[in-house]
Amino acid sequence: MNTFRVVLLVPIVLALCDQGMMEPWDPQPQDVAGWPQRHEALVNQTLQHKTEEQIVFVGDSITEGWGDDGKAVWDKYYTPRHAFNYAIRGDQTQNVIYRIQNHEFDGLGPKVTILMIGTNNAGANTVEDIAHGVNETVKQLLGKMPNTKIILLGILPRPEPLGAKVKQVNELIAKLNNDKNVFFLDMWSAYEKDGKQNTDLYLSDNILHLNERGFEVWQQIMEPLLKKLDPTL
Ligand SMILES: *[C@@H]1O[C@H](CO)[C@@H](O)[C@H](O)[C@H]1NC(C)=O
Ligand SMILES: *[C@@H]1O[C@H](CO)[C@@H](O)[C@H](O)[C@H]1NC(C)=O
Repeated sequence: MNTFRVVLLVPIVLALCDQGMMEPWDPQPQDVAGWPQRHEALVNQTLQHKTEEQIVFVGDSITEGWGDDGKAVWDKYYTPRHAFNYAIRGDQTQNVIYRIQNHEFDGLGPKVTILMIGTNNAGANTVEDIAHGVNETVKQLLGKMPNTKIILLGILPRPEPLGAKVKQVNELIAKLNNDKNVFFLDMWSAYEKDGKQNTDLYLSDNILHLNERGFEVWQQIMEPLLKKLDPTL
């Protein structure tokens, strides 16, 4: 092969690899400062609390908010029931899949796993591809924690144009419900008022993240299902 051909091929191969890696179902770390440390801290959380963990939450910044604006609700309802949070801001499905494949859930046996993911894919990916990414995330979680029951939450309302898109994702991922170990719960309508996103439940800065009232609503809506899945919780 002459040099000309090699020079021509390298960028094409690199471009293909790059695209392939960006699929919402292909494991990929987030390429931002601090992310590897957050991931490592979650691996540490598992190593330290493996045997205590009864409920685990998995997600992005919205779920991470349980440690911030949702903290009072969390301390009241979830700390006493040995719940642990595995959320990293900015995460897309492919980032969570990377975390699953890199030891965050190794050896865990929570009774219930709560997953909300996909809103951060809405800018870059199609509805079908996001649903595929969520599907893969659920599968990988069950691969690591075969006895857990997953509450798969629908993505919450957000401003248009992405609001309509995530609503369509919810319609697809609702089909992952099997009433056996995957239970889909759509909280959408509780976060709407007069057919529009109910901004009373969100932080006013960006209308993506929940305020304390928004976390109260989450807890209240999810509670009956949590109890149904495991009355001892
Ligand atoms: C994780 O635990 C290891 C071993 O105790 C420690 O050296 C490391 O600093 C911890 N990492 C984080 C991000 O907390
Ligand atoms: C999820 O993925 C499996 C293949 O692993 C496929 O059979 C199933 O149809 C997918 N479910 C949805 C709702 O896309």
